[in-house]
Amino acid sequence: MKIETFALERWMTTYEMHVKYDIAESGILPLTVNDLLQFEPPEKRDEILQRLLEMPLGYSEAPGSLELRSLLAATYDNCGPQNILITTGAIEANFLLFNTLLDPGDHVVAVYPAYQQLYSVPRAIGCEVSLWKLRPENGFRYDLDELERLVTQQTRLIVINTPHNPTGAMLSTADVRRIYALAESVGAKVLGDEAYRWLTVPGGDDFAPPMVNQGPAGISVGTLSKPFGLPGLRIGWIAGPADLIAQCWAMRDYVSLSPGKLNDALAVLAVKRRERVVERNHAIISQNLACATAWMAQHADIVSWIPPRGGLLALLRYNLDIPSLELANKLAEEYSVMLAPGSAFGFEYHLRLGIGQNPTVFAAGLERTAKCLAELQASGVRRLS
Ligand SMILES: Cc1ncc(COP(=O)(O)O)c(C=O)c1O
Repeated sequence: MKIETFALERWMTTYEMHVKYDIAESGILPLTVNDLLQFEPPEKRDEILQRLLEMPLGYSEAPGSLELRSLLAATYDNCGPQNILITTGAIEANFLLFNTLLDPGDHVVAVYPAYQQLYSVPRAIGCEVSLWKLRPENGFRYDLDELERLVTQQTRLIVINTPHNPTGAMLSTADVRRIYALAESVGAKVLGDEAYRWLTVPGGDDFAPPMVNQGPAGISVGTLSKPFGLPGLRIGWIAGPADLIAQCWAMRDYVSLSPGKLNDALAVLAVKRRERVVERNHAIISQNLACATAWMAQHADIVSWIPPRGGLLALLRYNLDIPSLELANKLAEEYSVMLAPGSAFGFEYHLRLGIGQNPTVFAAGLERTAKCLAELQASGVRRLS
């Protein structure tokens, strides 16, 4: 398989281990193992820790432990453990689904801009990919009429992502139902990348039910990376019909075989305490959202944004004549701030901002960004009209 470079991942790896103020991050401030233990009742902590320390690190249950799959299945309608496959993050879940569901020449409709995997992997398989575009002039809202124009009798798969990376857009319950009905009417399936599930935003939208709840043509992808702040566990999953799960599992035998045993056990702890984790995340998101809103207002002559309706990402527009990659590199190298270049998503004069970072780091990162923009102006960089 020949595949295009994953532009954002390449750029992130250049700087993410070196900068002090990473406010491009697509996830929430990570939890530690100790944080997970603190969610447990005090009298149980020692016993749980001891169990983890003494766990033989042999191979794990290949599709993911029955306990983890059962816990995750319970978060969907009419799902049991046979409807869940644990994967190496949502990225492997998507990869397995594309390679299981698609053949060269198939027609796919994928949301754009997007986490690049969602359209680059279908293209690499040889599919014809139509992009369902979110546009700034439309407030980055999903236009369902446009989707209807893109879907044809040949469409095999519709790929959606809600809440959306990188704009924070959300599909409503009515939207999700309409997309499902549209897919069913042409015999296609819908892959719902729900990596940002459970991450509601104050003043944002309510969550639509997961795509797998809509019926047999619906598939949901989830992960512990974003809503749980546990990207280092590399635990994601597919929720879908049992026969599709079996097919994806058969393909995964050739790729990663099984999840890490310790990671699976830590994932069980996290999912059991989901409400506590989500509560902790809401506090971070609320604080950073308030900070970003005040900062945008203070610098309204030069920056603007459409706040996220869900999840924790948004595109910030700046009003200076400097390409986004050049600005992002300058911020990283000279100001130790990471804001992802909009060009990685096809949007010039934009930077991607993540509101999941440690609030102190987040506020300092925005302050340094304002300083950089002021210094660029002082050095003669032209304002855009
Ligand atoms: C929309 C979306 N899907 C999937 C992923 C992959 O996440 P992970 O493999 O860490 O679960 C990401 C990561 O940024 C994402 O933003």
